This record gives sequence, structure tokens and C-alpha cells, in this order.
Amino acid sequence: MGYVVERSTAILTIDFPPVNALGAPVRDGLMARLKQAAADDAVTAIVIIGGNGRFVAGADIRELQNELRGATLKDLTAFMEASPKPVVAAIDGYALGGGLELALGAHARIAAYGAKLGFPEINLGILPGGGGTQRGTRLIGPKHAADLMLSGRHIGADEALAMSLIDEVADGDLRSAAVELTQRKTSPAAAPSTADSRKNRFEERPKSFFDDLRKSNAIKWRGTIAPLKVSECIEAALRLPLEEGLLFERAAFKACKEAPAHAAQVHLFFAERAAAKVSGIDKSVKPRATDSVAIIGAGTMGCGIAMAVANTGIAATLLDVNPANLSNAIERIEKLYSASVSRGSMSAGEAQGARQKIRTAQEYSAIGSCDLAIEAAFEDLNVKREIFARLAEVMMPASVLATNTSALDIDAIAAATGRPDNVVGLHFFSPANVMKLLEIVRGARTSDVTIATAMAFARRIGKIPVIAKNADGFIGNRILRAYGREADFLVEEGANPSQVDGALKEFGFPMGLYLMRDMAGLDVGWRSRVARGIPTDAVDYHATLWDRLCELGRFGQKTGAGYYKYEGRAATPDPEVDEVLKAISLQKGIVRRSFSDSEIVLRIMCAMVNEGAHVLEEGVAQRASDIDVAYVHGYGFPKYRGGPMFWAEREGLGKILAEVQRQSARSPRWKPSALLVRLAQEGADWPG
Ligand code: 3HC
Repeated sequence: MGYVVERSTAILTIDFPPVNALGAPVRDGLMARLKQAAADDAVTAIVIIGGNGRFVAGADIRELQNELRGATLKDLTAFMEASPKPVVAAIDGYALGGGLELALGAHARIAAYGAKLGFPEINLGILPGGGGTQRGTRLIGPKHAADLMLSGRHIGADEALAMSLIDEVADGDLRSAAVELTQRKTSPAAAPSTADSRKNRFEERPKSFFDDLRKSNAIKWRGTIAPLKVSECIEAALRLPLEEGLLFERAAFKACKEAPAHAAQVHLFFAERAAAKVSGIDKSVKPRATDSVAIIGAGTMGCGIAMAVANTGIAATLLDVNPANLSNAIERIEKLYSASVSRGSMSAGEAQGARQKIRTAQEYSAIGSCDLAIEAAFEDLNVKREIFARLAEVMMPASVLATNTSALDIDAIAAATGRPDNVVGLHFFSPANVMKLLEIVRGARTSDVTIATAMAFARRIGKIPVIAKNADGFIGNRILRAYGREADFLVEEGANPSQVDGALKEFGFPMGLYLMRDMAGLDVGWRSRVARGIPTDAVDYHATLWDRLCELGRFGQKTGAGYYKYEGRAATPDPEVDEVLKAISLQKGIVRRSFSDSEIVLRIMCAMVNEGAHVLEEGVAQRASDIDVAYVHGYGFPKYRGGPMFWAEREGLGKILAEVQRQSARSPRWKPSALLVRLAQEGADWPG
């Protein structure tokens, strides 16, 4: 913690890489320096600044689940507020969570233009617990407070200034501007704690503000108490004096920390960062440039990928040999951008800027100089091999050649290029401009530099990368198959599609499996099974109901009937489907019985976890937490449960194994993973 005195101002510099998290050493150091400045007769004012171009990214997340040692954030803000020498927070880089709360203890805040501010605690299943809900609400009012604290979004200095979260944006050097500010403006009376704006803020909102907020978000807030507690704390800030409000906040913070969602979301925070690290690749391997990207195939996926690329300011060329596909694609992209502007998720200027980054081409020669090509054509190995042969002819030797396949063998595609080291899978999830997951598939000969480039590209376009070995279904779809298969057997044994969907939704999935299949359309999978001649009498053949529905012309939502019947988009359970199911059970000699929702969930989850354990022991995924990241960001697994592998650990691997073994005694399709057996016997958790 640096301490220098300039123009009678003590400059306290927080320098604790990588992000100046407010762990015990930082809090203790800052408290010591604040006391030093208070006692220093040469000092009339104090500036707190981050030493490495960053203010403070929040509490140290690793410490959150332990008892706090030493000075607390509450001690620091209380000391700052009571200081007769004005304190200014000078914000560069990030002021997030506890970092912003620290700044709210100062008498004034000034930020550099590029600074980012926010309360991301909600993403960790908690709320601002260092006075943020009370001081923040007093400063910016309940609407802005609710917006920032419930979304966790980061805002820029201009927006922070507009809502009075900060007092000034620095014009030029932040440090000098902050020293200036101490001398010019601040008096302790201006601090957020004394800014008694409660009365005004009451009038600023409609009477039903909090009730409306809670009602309209009831579904979204399921499974975690943090959003409800945030709303209660903001309400308390309008009602209670500061000291009482702080006590209210403290109790709410404690309740959030003790709720299971907090541990799950902290697990995901570190899991996402771990997933970005590839074992075995030396740090000296530097990614190649990805400043221009070609997307081959102007279908739904190609459009989504082009938008994901262009949204981050990278030039995207959408290539399709069919001009009609290109003009449809452009129409589609323009509609999607207009919808984003109407929804308010993009400004008109941002949408226009992104749209201008997308150009189209019909000839391969137009993309030869691109750094990266992403093929998003029809899922047919021969089609893809032809495209890759063309790419190998036209692209620069260092260009990375990627396929968006969700199912095909990357090595078979790479073999068509003569440079398999440059070939990698980039498996986007639909809609590609929205979904966060990017599965990066490593072929047998993919080079380290190609992997490093793919990882860096994923982060650059705001995706969360998870690396997978080239193996059938990679990570996500392989586990999805196990989960879908078990659901299909459950309905043959006595459950029905709407009960399975209901149980999965109650568990926290945004949508049930059968509704999802109906939306995607049932015909493609059915035709592919028929074309491949898959024997329908095998013991693990699960798609009998699916096939029967298709034979009846029920292809899902688009034909008004599938697993459900439809009025427009509204699905209702269909007694006809129950009749078809009964006939299937009879034909297979299965005596139907009833299932409880918890039995359904346990069986489906155990199928997922057992498959996840196979994926791990085969080295298809690097670590269990990568599977969690994939499932939360690509398959709608509820965040507040931390992912399937984390869920399994919390349930106890012994309990999971017992269910897997019970099922395997009933049916040979269940094959207990050797890894799961070993870990359960040792009483251990997943490795890594
Ligand atoms: N505590 C502990 N470690 C942290 C951390 C934190 N608050 N923030 C980041 N880190 C670590 C990361 O785990 C990572 O470690 P690794 O290199 O070993 O994997 C390293 O710092 C760098 O982080 P990123 O890879 O995420 O770096 P980026 O530059 O991409 O992003 C960031 C920077 C936007 C600051 C991002 O790290 C972030 O969002 N951090 C978390 C911010 C947050 O949630 N703050 C609130 C904490 S809770 C709180 O303050 C409670 C309070 O109300 C009492």
C-alpha cells in the first residue's frame, strides 16, 4: 500500500495484482495508511487510487465463505466517513462490488473515462454487503440502484456521472484531477451517508415499485434469494436511517451467504476462469491475430456467428455460393439488429456499427486474407470436407480453419486440408449471437498455437470457452444424449412428457426436454435415424415414441403437434400421446407405474453425471468444472445449482453411485463410470 504526500494530500495507492481484490492484507494496509494520513499534520486531504491502473474489483471472492479477519470494509468506510480530512476515491479500471462500496465511503468520487463501475455481487448469489445498498440507494435512487444491483452490469464513467454515482469524470491525469478535487469541492457533509435524499427518492418511484419488481421477476429469481434481498435492502434504504439500514443489509448479506446458491455461483466464477486455461500449453505459445473472420454458410448459425463476431468490432465476411442465401441472411441479420434496438439491448449506433462490420461474398477468393475461417454449413461430412479443401487452397498458411460442427469427426474434416494442425472445432450454440458457451474441439493434430488462438478469439468475442477432445458428441451433446435417453425410458415406464418437463422446470431448467424437442422439430432426427438404419429393437433404443409421433406426422410445434399439441405456440399435454405411450409400453412388455418428480429428476441427473464421469475419465473434458460451465452456459442448467458435477458433489458421489448401480442392475444400458466408482469408494470429490 503506497503512501506519498503531494500538495498536502496523502495519496494511498492500492497495488495488489491482478485486480486489487479487497482481501485481508489490502484492508489492513489501507486502514493503517488511513490512520497514518489522519495523524499526519502535513496532510489536509486523502486520495485513494489503484496503483496498476485499476481501482478495486471487489471483495476477495476466495475469502467470502470464511470469517473475515482484520479490518472490515465497514471499518474502512466508517473511518473514511468520519474523517475530518476529505477523502476522494480516484477510479480507474474497475470499481466493482466492494470496490465501489469502498469508493462510496469517500466524500467524493472521480473516475477516468475508461473506468467501469458496478455491483456484480448478484452473479455470486449475494448482494452488496459493504454498505452499497444503503449508500448507493441514497446517492442514485431506487430505480438506478435496482437496475445496477439486480443486473450486475458494469457501467462506464459517463453513465455513472449521469446517475450521480460519481462526482466527476477526470479530464486528463486521474491522480492530479483527484488531488484537485480534494482542494476544490469536497466537504465531509457531501458524503453519501449524509446525503439525505430519502424523501426525494420516495417520490421518485411509483408506489407499487417494489411489488411490481418482485412480481414481474418471480420466475427469473427462482432458486436464489439474493435478488429478493437486494430489493428489500433498497426499500430499507428509503425507510431507515443509515445505521439501521446497514444492520438490515448485514442480516440480508448473511442470509445470502448461507444460501446454497452462493457456493454454487462462486464455484462457477472460478470454474469459468479455470475453463479458459488449457493444460499442457506453454505460456510462451502466443495466439495469432483474429482481426478478420470469414464465416462459410449463410444459414441461421452462420448469421448468428457473423453477428457475434461483428458485435465486438471484428470484420466478418459471410460467404455463401448461393446469392439467395446471402440476401436472406442479410435480411435476417438486419431484423435481428432492429429487434435488439427495440428491446433496448443495443443502441441504434451500436447496431449500425456492428451491421457495417458484416460484408458478404460469393467467392472463396474474397476471404483468402482472413485470419480465421469458421465453417457453418450443413452437417454432412462430405460437404464439410469439400469446403475445407477449398479453404486450404485459398487461406493464408497461418489462418486458422474452424468448423462449427456439433457432431462430426474433426480429424476427418482436417484430413481434407493437408494442414490439420490449423484445424479446430468452434462449436457455437444457437442463437450464436446470444449464447455464451463456445466448445473448442481439439483434433488429434490441432497445434497448440491453433488452440491458443481459438481460446483468445472466444474471449475476445465475449464467449466462455470450454475445451473438448474430438470424440462423439464432444462434451455437451454427449451428456445431452444420456439425459434425453433416460427421459425417454422414463416415459415408456410410466411418466409422460409433460410430467418430465414439469419436473425438469421445477429443478430449474428454463424449458423441459420435450418442449425443446418440439420447438427444434422432430423430423430431422427421425429421418437421420431411419437413413442410418439404426435397429429399433436394441435394448438401449430410446426413441420409439419419437419415431411413432413422426410416423403420425407430428413433427413438433411447426405442425401443431409433437409431444404436445399446440394452439399457436401454446403447448398443452395431449391424451393421444399418452395412448401412443401405453401401446409402446404394452408392446415392450413394460408394466407402467407412477413416478414422483423427485424420482424423475434423480434418475435423469444421475444419467448426466455418470456420463459426465465417463467424459472425464476418457479425457474428453479437462476437468469436472468445465462440464459445469458447458451445461450452465450452453444447455440452460440452473446457475444456482452450479452445474451437474457440482450438484453431484453436493448430493454426495456415494448417493449418485448408489442410484447408478441400482439402475445398472435393472438395465445393461447403465454402465457405472470407473472414476465415479473409485471416487465414491474413496469418499473423494472430482479431481482438480
Ligand atoms: N476476488 C478474487 N479473485 C479475483 C477477483 C475477486 N474479486 N476478481 C478477479 N479475480 C481473479 C480471477 O479469479 C483471476 O484469477 P486467475 O488468473 O488465477 O484465474 C484473475 O483475478 C483475473 O481475473 P479475470 O480473468 O476475470 O480478469 P479480467 O481482466 O477478464 O476481468 C474483472 C477483470 C472484470 C475484474 C473480473 O475479474 C471480475 O468480474 N471479477 C469479479 C468482480 C466481482 O464480482 N466483484 C464483487 C465481489 S463480491 C463483493 O465485493 C462483496 C461485497 O459486496 C462485500
